[in-house]
Amino acid sequence: MFVILSHLAIYLGCSTTFLILAGIIKVFYNIYAHPLRKYPGPKFWGSSRLAWTWSMQSGYLHKHLHDFHLQYGPVVRIAPNELSYIDAQAWKDIYGPRHSHAAIEKNRIWVKQEEAEAHRTIVSVDEATHFRNRRALQGAFTEHAVTQHEIILQSIIGLMMQRFGERTSAGQDRTEVDIVEWLNFLAFDISGELTFGESFDCVNNGRAHPWVEISCSFGKGLALMASVNFFSPLDKLLRYAMPGHVQKKMEYHIELAKQKGLQRLAMGHQEGKQDYVGSILQYNEEKGEKIPKEEILENMSVIIFAGSETTSTSMGSILNQLMRNPEAFRKLEDEIRNAFSTEAEITNSKATKLEFLTAVIKEGLRLGPPAAIAIPRVIPKDGENICGRWVPGGTLVSVNQYPTFRSPSNFSQPDCFIPERWINSLPGDDQSSFHPFLFGRHSCIGLRLAWAEMRITLARLLFTFDVSPADDVKDFGEQQTFIFWQKLPLKLVLQNRRRNF
Ligand code: HEM
Repeated sequence: MFVILSHLAIYLGCSTTFLILAGIIKVFYNIYAHPLRKYPGPKFWGSSRLAWTWSMQSGYLHKHLHDFHLQYGPVVRIAPNELSYIDAQAWKDIYGPRHSHAAIEKNRIWVKQEEAEAHRTIVSVDEATHFRNRRALQGAFTEHAVTQHEIILQSIIGLMMQRFGERTSAGQDRTEVDIVEWLNFLAFDISGELTFGESFDCVNNGRAHPWVEISCSFGKGLALMASVNFFSPLDKLLRYAMPGHVQKKMEYHIELAKQKGLQRLAMGHQEGKQDYVGSILQYNEEKGEKIPKEEILENMSVIIFAGSETTSTSMGSILNQLMRNPEAFRKLEDEIRNAFSTEAEITNSKATKLEFLTAVIKEGLRLGPPAAIAIPRVIPKDGENICGRWVPGGTLVSVNQYPTFRSPSNFSQPDCFIPERWINSLPGDDQSSFHPFLFGRHSCIGLRLAWAEMRITLARLLFTFDVSPADDVKDFGEQQTFIFWQKLPLKLVLQNRRRNF
């Protein structure tokens, strides 16, 4: 027995020494011999994945990247095999059309999509799967379809205004709301209608559906997965380390999504109803190609989050900046109240004509972009030139929106909320660096819908209520982001409108 134990101890000792030595050699290799060694960046981050992982888990990766770009310039090595860019040219080189060059695809590590059981949806890494699903869903996002969806948007936004009205009436003409919470309700209810044909009734009940809560922790789960997947085989342990209640929530989400999806599928394609399922079913009818039932259900699970989390974040970020900048706020309020004489007049097509509102939305997206941290792409095996410099195959590359949009090399007074810059460009501004909905074949399919939702909601809110902050408001960018923003409460005081113009 003693002999076995002593052999085991020697074996463990040797293995540990070997692993430590291999680790040290790897660190030296990464710093002094790796093909990316000449790219600027903090040495510690380039030496192993650990610093990046720690930063991602801290929730402040967006701020760390911002600091590095200020210090090292437009391209920074942020891990042994990863580069972050903030240069306008990088959008074109990484995400733009590739013509005769091999595609720069999404990395497969973050979501482990090299596995056979990979999910097949519009966000799939596999380009053919992505393309097929994107074409099938396209019908739900045309200008015509968004015009059809407006009735849903108006009705749920109207219900939110009604609930706010009831509260102000019950509270001596004023009420206090956490607008971040309500915008989550709103975006989820709209997403529910367009995905499953029924709202989650969050706005109606003034309470989050369990899915809204799940979505808030969804980003953290993704961030953890993205980090752990770099340390194979640790990722295998993750599923055992996951707390029981989180596991239960995930199972509940999958089951509920399936049930609701099947209910919507059973309704089939209804003439004149171009929601997401309708669009896919019509595509299946018209094209030889078929999107199988499993794929349709998976797409619905994806879009319910892609369409709601982002849009509610953007409106939260815009209102955050408006509350910190009373002059811009008053100017916007003026524009809206001068343009309409009743709330019922506010439509998407009329709100689109409001120049300052459009500028405010862009400026809010610049300072608090919902996709603050990018999903890195991978350079094809033969390597590629990015921003005029050679990048070897297998390198992860991305344009990270938060550091890009807040960089003094792209925008003058980058941390200031100046909507006017979108009407008359400020000297030193490079608007071609601004792509909050991405660029190229993976750009946001929901852009038109998101713009409609943001315009109508903000215009109706500011038309109907006098809005002011209940507390001090910190810059949106100060909070944590775990792929999705933490979204701290933003308490607003709403009063029945007194200010008239
Ligand atoms: C202000 C709101 C929004 C912003 C800022 C936004 C931003 C983005 C970005 C940056 C991407 C690219 C992600 C990547 O591949 O790296 C994306 C993709 C996507 N977005 Fe949005 N989004 C918004 C609203 C919406 C809405 C309302 C929907 C749908 C209802 C939606 C559905 C999608 C889908 C399905 C994709 C994947 C597209 C593809 O890979 O072909 N998004 N969005």
